[in-house]
Amino acid sequence: MSDQAFGLAKEMLAEIEAYPIETREQLEQFRIAFLGSKNRIKPLFAQIKEVEPTRKKEFGQTINAVKQAAQAKFDASKDQLSGGEFTGGGAQGSYESPDLTRPIPANSLGSIHPVSIVMNQIIDIFKRIGFVISEGPQIEDDWHNFTALNFPPDHPARDMQDTFFITEDISLRTHTSSVQVRVMENSKPPIRTISPGRVFRNETISARAHCQFHQVEGLYVDTDVSFADLKQTLYYFAQEMFGQDTKIRFRPSYFPFTEISAEMDISCFICKQEGCNVCKKTGWVEILGCGMVDPNVLENCKIDSEKYTGFAFGMGVERIAMLKYRINDIRLIFENDIRFLRQFTSSL
Ligand code: PHE
Repeated sequence: MSDQAFGLAKEMLAEIEAYPIETREQLEQFRIAFLGSKNRIKPLFAQIKEVEPTRKKEFGQTINAVKQAAQAKFDASKDQLSGGEFTGGGAQGSYESPDLTRPIPANSLGSIHPVSIVMNQIIDIFKRIGFVISEGPQIEDDWHNFTALNFPPDHPARDMQDTFFITEDISLRTHTSSVQVRVMENSKPPIRTISPGRVFRNETISARAHCQFHQVEGLYVDTDVSFADLKQTLYYFAQEMFGQDTKIRFRPSYFPFTEISAEMDISCFICKQEGCNVCKKTGWVEILGCGMVDPNVLENCKIDSEKYTGFAFGMGVERIAMLKYRINDIRLIFENDIRFLRQFTSSL
């Protein structure tokens, strides 16, 4: 009886060795037959009861060898099939060595984030007329974010509604005007600087507002700086940024750190003032806040306000990016969904 069981194992081994595996299909058939959950080696184990006791151990080792042979053949054939290029299909398919002259698939390129694109454009324009970049901390003290900028103690912007306070005296900066205070404290006029950077406000997140965004704020302090200088500088910026036929207009406004203060609109570059829903049919879109630096602010920064005057302006980068690229929800800018970002691959 033992001989018959050993004979079966031997036949199975021969069958495994002779099994043709030249295609993926054959590989799969082989796997099902010899390695699958209902494989043909399993019933051999039942034969053990037919084997005389002194040879049971030897029989166990024989079946294990059959199993190992099946696994080894499967592994080797699989490696061979995936190493070469499979041509043709079905049982007739055959394998060739890979074609080394074949072009490799193109690498997928990343893209510059729309906020960076617009921020770099703004920076480039102001650099051309002599502004230098200054940067500062995102976590600020009360002095640089508020007090030096002439915010009265009860100003609503100090309220928990608008500002993320860390302690009573420390908060996330709500604008990059804080950087300009640092510049004024640490240098002498003439000062011509722009401060790009991330700012934070305690706003409910919606399609139009976010708790974080980016600004570029500008400051020019020198003798005889006038509102005419401010207008001409911003006119140059608007034309460079939005096209040579762009018009600008100023509306009176209020900021604690400027006197006089204004908001600047540009002529709607989308509808050319025909009226569209971006400009809400007015032909104008608001783009930035600006004004003449309040003498108190200069004095707070140890700059003689009798001798020097200055102008300042500040704009939201996301707002401009949204206008330029017709993005209708600010949240898209921060979600970084790859389907959104890919649309900027060719922009610069
Ligand atoms: N700091 C202002 C803001 O955060 C913008 C501004 C800057 C306005 C400079 C006037 C002058 O909105």
